[in-house]
Amino acid sequence: MTLAELLPSIGCSTEPVLEEGLWPDGTHVSGSDLVIGGVPATRLAAQFGTPCQVLDEMTVRRRAQAFTAALPDAEVVFAGKSLPCPEVYRWMASLGLSLDVSSAGELALARAAGFPASRIVLHGNVKTGEDLKAALEYGVSRIVVDSFDEIAQLGALARHGQHVMIRVTPGVDAHTHAAIATGVEDQKFGFSLASGAALEAVLRVVEQPSLRLVGLHCHIGSQVRHVASYEEAVRRMVGLIASCGVRIEQLDLGGGFCAPYLPGEPSFDLFGFAQRVRGTLNYECRLHRVPVPRVLVEPGRAIVANAGVTLYRVCAVKRGVSRTFVAVDGGMSDNPRPALYGAQYVVRLVGRGGKLHPVTVVGRHCEAGDVLAENVPLPADVHAGDVLAVPATGAYHHALASNYNQVGRPPVVAVADGTARPIVRRETEEDLLRRYA
Ligand SMILES: Cc1ncc(COP(=O)(O)O)c(C=O)c1O
Repeated sequence: MTLAELLPSIGCSTEPVLEEGLWPDGTHVSGSDLVIGGVPATRLAAQFGTPCQVLDEMTVRRRAQAFTAALPDAEVVFAGKSLPCPEVYRWMASLGLSLDVSSAGELALARAAGFPASRIVLHGNVKTGEDLKAALEYGVSRIVVDSFDEIAQLGALARHGQHVMIRVTPGVDAHTHAAIATGVEDQKFGFSLASGAALEAVLRVVEQPSLRLVGLHCHIGSQVRHVASYEEAVRRMVGLIASCGVRIEQLDLGGGFCAPYLPGEPSFDLFGFAQRVRGTLNYECRLHRVPVPRVLVEPGRAIVANAGVTLYRVCAVKRGVSRTFVAVDGGMSDNPRPALYGAQYVVRLVGRGGKLHPVTVVGRHCEAGDVLAENVPLPADVHAGDVLAVPATGAYHHALASNYNQVGRPPVVAVADGTARPIVRRETEEDLLRRYA
């Protein structure tokens, strides 16, 4: 009996093991194919073409429900920017989540989804007059103000006591990449707590008869791993609540809950967060003698990142002096994250195995920096026509996609229970041409 024959009889799988936590729930290798949401990846690539962003609906739903279950007293607000798509917004609405939008465009998607205005929060360090008017017209429940100019502008436009939150920069270092650390001082988001700008913003909002201050907001960054960073934010925000002398009903702690992209990276400790943040909030409010505000959280990535897998087709393999370049039919237009902030990914060849060899997976765009993954192991005989799968591509991929080089943006195909359906269709040349004179 060979080892391969022996392993199943002693309870060991001979099938290639998928990196834990990176892939949608239930993704498995069957024969030589990768099965996502019950649908073989080779079938998805053939039916919908490549590149193709596959989204496992049940994984999205389960991650969203994990937040509402862990935080039953809190309002869980899906960060709509992480995966802007009416169908995904509908899933969130049906699960009882709220939604944050950052522009009139994202709001238009929410409206198309029929998302209730009473559960929409408007964000953004810049809101144009059009953004504000669209939000007021739809009647969004809260607008998070981010500058003194905006407070004055919104005060002039709003009627009937529009509910407002103030975005505060609490000065908490969340230990993430500089481009995604938004809680530290001296940056474009929010009113600084340390400089007194946040306190001044409270006074300015209270002075506006058309606005009603209901909450304070902070967002300390993205890919935040440590619950302690949120606890520190709670301490600082409750200090502000105590010193501002105004009843604050809501404390929005933003998003930023980490998701794993590489093997061994942790998922966010959601239950630890729920317990420790609740404990810290109660303690600090008692200490400062202020009523405990209702907590809001705004997860995006932690809900959708690991529900997504992007499929590419290999177009060319080039052996360089020291590296092998595997060029695919997508690249920085569907995933700018490696070029933007050095994000790293796992890549897997679909359809067969083989002796592994380190390669550099590059995109099709006219930029030397269009590299999707450096030094990743792929079968040494990888060749044109092969399909590659990249996990953890559900968040900020469709959202950040561009049509650089006039390459149409890929579809988003939802899979569930063995069926697949596009919830965003591929961008065509007609779509591209429609904008030109
Ligand atoms: C205000 C605000 N809330 C929530 C989020 C969502 O963050 P994440 O997707 O990392 O959870 C962001 C992301 O930029 C944000 O700016």
